[in-house]
Amino acid sequence: MFAVVFFVMAYFNLKLTLMLIPMFPVLALFGWVFVKVTSPMFVKVRKIAAEIPGFLTEQLNGIGVLQAFSREADASAKMEALNQKRFKADISVELYTVVFFLSIVFLHPAATAAVFHYGGRMVLDGKMTVGVILLFVMYLGNLFDPIFRFSEHLSIIQRSFSAGHRIAKILELRPALTEPAQPHYLSSVRESIDFRNVWMRYKEESGWVLKDVSFTLPRGKSLAILGETGGGKTTVTSLLFRFYDFQKGHIEIDGTDIRKLSLGSLRAAIGLVQQDIYLFPGTVMENLKLMDASIPDSRVHDAIRLMGIEAFFKKHPLDKVVKEKGANLSIGEKQVISLARAMVLDQEVLVLDEATSNMDPHTERLITTAIKNLLKHKTVIIIAHRLSTVRNADRVMMISGGEVKELGTHDELLAKDGLYAKYNRLQSGEGE
Ligand SMILES: Nc1ncnc2c1ncn2[C@@H]1O[C@H](COP(=O)(O)OP(=O)(O)OP(=O)(O)O)[C@@H](O)[C@H]1O
Ligand SMILES: [Mg+2]
Repeated sequence: MFAVVFFVMAYFNLKLTLMLIPMFPVLALFGWVFVKVTSPMFVKVRKIAAEIPGFLTEQLNGIGVLQAFSREADASAKMEALNQKRFKADISVELYTVVFFLSIVFLHPAATAAVFHYGGRMVLDGKMTVGVILLFVMYLGNLFDPIFRFSEHLSIIQRSFSAGHRIAKILELRPALTEPAQPHYLSSVRESIDFRNVWMRYKEESGWVLKDVSFTLPRGKSLAILGETGGGKTTVTSLLFRFYDFQKGHIEIDGTDIRKLSLGSLRAAIGLVQQDIYLFPGTVMENLKLMDASIPDSRVHDAIRLMGIEAFFKKHPLDKVVKEKGANLSIGEKQVISLARAMVLDQEVLVLDEATSNMDPHTERLITTAIKNLLKHKTVIIIAHRLSTVRNADRVMMISGGEVKELGTHDELLAKDGLYAKYNRLQSGEGE
């Protein structure tokens, strides 16, 4: 269309058509400047636009803390500041868009005036008819029509590019841990989990978080890990799931290096019960099955019986509806449900991060019973905080400053009269 219009104009008057040619580099220059100047601005707008829902999500998740510390006004002020930032970024990019569009709009009457000016002279000199001027004016309208539409869409294209730029950045991210080229598949742990002289640091420049950690956990046995805050307990369990890789030593399951195992099969074989319990909106039963409808109800009933916590589920029947994030349950109740869930799911090996929170004696007894029975039926690594749990574990590992200080049964370590014995005295209230 563009070319045809141009061709017809040139056919009627080549000189006048050539006079209009400089208009195009000017148009291209406007477009180039607009794209150059506004590209980073559009990216900035996108970034700020993403900050707002991120901030809102954080504040809504922590609304309880904000209310408890009367920080609602602070949160509102921060939200207001973010909105202002977004507004300013938006306004400046819109201003550039309007200036660009107006400059294109202005070019049309300027070109029409040029046609009248030079064309008029040609008519007066008898080199052209008035009809050709009218044809030029009409055709200029046709020429500018697609230019207007393109410039209107240019800012939309710019916006899409900035969004695409951000998406591409996310797509470019590669997981730090990758699947081995020819992975072995782990269906179950038949013999043991072995840590042999494992050294680990989170960053090259930081110090060792685990130093020469070694232990063996035979199938069906349990190991309680104890130690000071920041001692490295969670790190030991994170390595087993390969959430991070270690630098020296070996971690093996049934003699196979876990780095040779398929990540999916490794993580499917080992269950994790975290302190931070997540329950889904749905019934207690659905939560116990972790939304897997193929699990028969009988397995849930068996698990509850094996754990000796039938009384709890009389009070909280299996068809009770759990609200979002388990909002209608106490922390202790959520813990019981998550322990029962660990029993229902078909994972023979479990990693438990026991909660430190103080509980009433009734819940304490309930959870002790649940954990005790879980330890009997599964292979468990438990980061333990309570003596009752530690006593029920087959072996205890005291870890401090990333080093295994003591490893043995409850009785062996008590007899040693070292760190564990001291910890025991402190917890049982005998003091130092
Ligand atoms: N993702 C991480 N990046 C960098 N350092 C980390 C990371 N996670 C833990 N650390 C550091 O590693 C050390 C051991 O942390 P870890 O979480 O294993 O301790 P922990 O024994 O589980 O403590 P707690 O009893 O408080 O849960 C700490 O000094 C901690 O600051
Ligand atoms: Mg921890």
